[in-house]
Parts: sequence; C-alpha cells; structure tokens
Amino acid sequence: MSTRFHIPLNRRRLLHSLLLTTGGIFTQSLYAEALTLTPRATEGPYYPDHLPLDQDNDLLQITGGPALASGVVTNFGGRLLNADGKPIQDAVIELWQADANGCYIHSRGTQRDKERDPQFQGYGKITTNAQGEYRFRTIKPGLYTGRTIHWHVAVKQGDKRMLTTQLFVAGVPENDRDGILRNMGTDQQRLSVIREFKPISTGSQELVGTWDIVIGNTPEDPEQRRRKGPGGPPPGNRTPPPRP
Ligand SMILES: [Fe+2]
Repeated sequence: MSTRFHIPLNRRRLLHSLLLTTGGIFTQSLYAEALTLTPRATEGPYYPDHLPLDQDNDLLQITGGPALASGVVTNFGGRLLNADGKPIQDAVIELWQADANGCYIHSRGTQRDKERDPQFQGYGKITTNAQGEYRFRTIKPGLYTGRTIHWHVAVKQGDKRMLTTQLFVAGVPENDRDGILRNMGTDQQRLSVIREFKPISTGSQELVGTWDIVIGNTPEDPEQRRRKGPGGPPPGNRTPPPRP
C-alpha cells in the first residue's frame, strides 16, 4: 500500500531548487524573462478526453496506485507572472504529457506498437499561491514520432483559458526539427520555453528545472489553440483530428 506523495508549495525548497538549477544567478534571468510573454502553442490532439480521478501536481504517482510511473523523475516549478512581472495568485496551471512510452491518457493517445504506462497519471494541476508559485513532480516525457520531448501546459484564471503552451528540454537534438517549437513566437520567446534540467543533487538521476510563465491579459481564442498546421498533430502517427 503506497502513501500519497503530496508536494507542498514550499518556498524555501523552491528557492533552493532555483539556486541549484541556475548556480545562483537566477534573479537576473527571472527579471529578463518577466518581460517576455510565454508564447502560445497548439493544444494538440491529446488534451485528456477523460480526466483522471487523481489530478494533483504529482503525476509520478496515482493515489492508491501500486507503483511509481516509469521514466526519469523530473521536477519543475516557478512563478506565474503578468507582463509587469507581478505574481498571479489563484490561477490553475494544468499539465498533460506523454508517458515514458510516448503515450497519452487520451482514449486515442496510445502510440503505434506501444503500451500506456498504467502507473502514470498523465494529467495534473495546481493552483498558484500568493507568490504566483507552482510546481510539479512528473517524468521527462517520452519521445513519439514527429515531435521532440515536450510538456503541454495550460493556464486558467476562473473559467478563462489564458494560455496554452508547451515546455521543452534544452539540449534535445529533436528540438531543432520540431515544427511546433520553431513556430512559437520570437527567438526570445522560444528560448523562454526551452529550459535546462539538472540533477536534483550530485549523482542523482532525478532532474529539476525552473520555468516562469508570463501571461498577458487577453484570454485565448479557443479556435486558435486547436488549429492544425505547424501546431497540429505530428505526421506518421495514429493521429486523431483535434477535438471538435
Ligand atoms: Fe504532445
């Protein structure tokens, strides 16, 4: 019987992670990024069509499940900011992603010749605290045909979807060929969604990264986030059309 692994939004721990990740020079980079709006990206075809019962910010373990998910344990967190760099409280940040086999929890999200990892939660969410902070414990997403490694992230304020975007891992060779990433805003915006992930401690296999999300005041156009094209589903997969 496993116990629930709850991740508190502990500011001291988060700051410690930030220091580890950036070598102590994070203040400067946070300031610079606060001026860059996080670019939008397609929602893709695999936003869950049935949400899991467990929707917490620990995707590594389903509550009551017998084991942890397969894959490289990866933590990330940061702050949700407005364009002036002010933290945004009480927004909901959603995360959905492929498991270690490249499969999503979507009913048509199993890749050809692969099996879904039943221990992986596949989707989670967290509400930002007074400092705008959020964090997730999850795995590094598996690679699937036509894409580089990526997380899907959405930000909601009340019932309004403010942003749909994707997060990437620096140094992954497929990044350079990824059509969705290449079409995400300006060079500076693109750089803001490609983050360094480092071992959480010396010799550890577990990774940690930081990512501040910067949103404007305009809610998203629902049609735009589902549009095909450079942001559409990858070729060569069992690809259902985007949600109607
Ligand atoms: Fe995806």
